Amino acid sequence: MAIDIEHRAPAARERTYVHRYSAFARVNHWITALTFVALALSGLALFHPSLFFLTGLFGGGALTRVIHPWLGVLLVISFFGMFLQFWRANLWNQDDTKWISKIGDVVKGDEEKLPELEKYNAGQKGVFWGQSLMILVLFCSGLIIWDQYFGGYVSIDTNRLAALVHAVMAFFAILLIVVHVYAGIWVRGTVSSMTQGRVTGGWAWRHHRKWLRREARGGKEAGE
Ligand code: HEM
Repeated sequence: MAIDIEHRAPAARERTYVHRYSAFARVNHWITALTFVALALSGLALFHPSLFFLTGLFGGGALTRVIHPWLGVLLVISFFGMFLQFWRANLWNQDDTKWISKIGDVVKGDEEKLPELEKYNAGQKGVFWGQSLMILVLFCSGLIIWDQYFGGYVSIDTNRLAALVHAVMAFFAILLIVVHVYAGIWVRGTVSSMTQGRVTGGWAWRHHRKWLRREARGGKEAGE
């Protein structure tokens, strides 16, 4: 059932929770998040001499060079699992265009002026598609510069270009994840969806009313 009424202590008031993520989706998300952080740290360690000290986290320079690309492979596999579960819910619709045009009210928290939303808002969808695209570009450019296995397949110029694209994409991907984490914390009550798999009815009513209405009718989608 999508909506549960939790009975806490006999005297305590009842609180309504709405189920948002399955255990599988949450484990998938946190593996992706941990892998991303490890990738960012090991990548930064290799990026600039002033950050070389970060190789200490991975057992030294040589090991960091070995581990970093494999973490990339793990991220692609793990993120693909999330992609399969969430791509449909992240498709753009007219409510997203309206929501974006009222971004001032979003920032002010004046949510009664905003359209009712399905499971995700336009900002979340932007992060989702941005991250999907960047992970793909990071992976492809990463393969080109993975000299141990693919060195010699491309010209030196192509190799250099791929290294540049890889670094620029990594910069924007890290920036986007900072936005993602900040937004998750800024909108109070969101983090519990990825830790406990549920949100309060009030949170759902305030931020994703269309989704709540569908859940109340018993609708279920991938990842829930
Ligand atoms: C590192 C700390 C992270 C935190 C604290 C965090 C937090 C969250 C939270 C609270 C949600 C639920 C949002 C909601 O249901 O409305 C969420 C969803 C999600 N997160 Fe994260 N996240 C982190 C890292 C990442 C990373 C590294 C990625 C991908 C590279 C990622 C991709 C996603 C995706 C795809 C969703 C589903 C929402 C959607 O499809 O738009 N997260 N995250």
